Amino acid sequence: MIVTSPSNLYADLDVQAELDAPLGPHTWFGIGGSADILIRPNTLEALSALARRCRRDGMPLRVLGSGANLLVDDEGVDGVVVKLDTEAFRRVEFNADGGIERMRVHGGASMERLVQECARRGLRGLEPMSGIPASLGGAIRMNAGGKFGAIGDAVDAVAVVGEDGELRVYPRSELEFGYRSTNLPAGTIAWASLRVEPDDPIACRDRVKEIFAYKKSTQPMSANSAGCMFRNPVMPDGTRESAGRLIDRAGLKGHRVGSAFVSTEHGNFLAVDRGDAGRLGRTDDLRALVDHVQRAVERAFGVRLETEVVFWRRGESHGGHS
Ligand code: EPU
Repeated sequence: MIVTSPSNLYADLDVQAELDAPLGPHTWFGIGGSADILIRPNTLEALSALARRCRRDGMPLRVLGSGANLLVDDEGVDGVVVKLDTEAFRRVEFNADGGIERMRVHGGASMERLVQECARRGLRGLEPMSGIPASLGGAIRMNAGGKFGAIGDAVDAVAVVGEDGELRVYPRSELEFGYRSTNLPAGTIAWASLRVEPDDPIACRDRVKEIFAYKKSTQPMSANSAGCMFRNPVMPDGTRESAGRLIDRAGLKGHRVGSAFVSTEHGNFLAVDRGDAGRLGRTDDLRALVDHVQRAVERAFGVRLETEVVFWRRGESHGGHS
């Protein structure tokens, strides 16, 4: 349901807009309700104006990345969902600032394609992102990565369109990247400068392949899931433990709630299928499964698992890419 007439939000802006737009197809889970308004800005100016107007009208603005780490409520979401998949926001400029080792990558660019393209050109630095589905903005927002490294290691600067519509550039010296976190303020990541180093293209390609093969051998690559559901928790002895291993040791692999189940390959992968009902699952089933896993792991090991996957629901504003 749209509470404010949206026309004065975007009618004069260079954007593509869709009302009551189903979000399931934009996410890796493939489930969930609709966005009241889905907007694809064609220019940075349009994105800035939109952000300003959303703030003026008290309308939530959520940024949809590649939907690889997002679970949308069955009832959908209010306000505006922005998707940066137009030409302007998918661009990658190699040799930015005249140096081969600097790239300017726009917020909606695909990490998978970027990793491949860097390897092809013999540019080293992004291999740890191999096999991680994400848009550049989404990857930076949560400092995506794994045991081989994280995107933050390669970031030189990030440009964010703030909630006031202003574009600000944050240099490396002001940025902090932690485990699946950054200190970036709310807003939309317009672009980032990434640092890579020239190397032998064959060596780069081999490393990408090697990391991808590790993931493929330990994780279900084809299920309807968002990768790891939970962050790896810090245990009482101060070490970070694999949430997947804890879920596994709690005997939860294969556990099912309706259409949602814990993968039998990797405990931290929660997925949905068509279940008995014959249609793709509901977000409610996944939420119930998340609760069950959290309770069981807490009982067994005394630690509370926090979700890494972002939940979108009506009435809860959210300031990042997902
Ligand atoms: N393990 C089990 N059972 C399981 C899962 C894992 O015993 O069900 C064991 C493995 O055998 C291994 C250890 O736990 O000895 C660690 O497993 P893994 O290498 O898969 O690492 P992880 O800590 O579970 C993290 C990231 C993954 C990333 C991998 C590999 C988080 C929450 N997860 O998983 O990221 O792919 O490292 O780099 O940080 C994601 O963020 O979506 C994600 C999947």
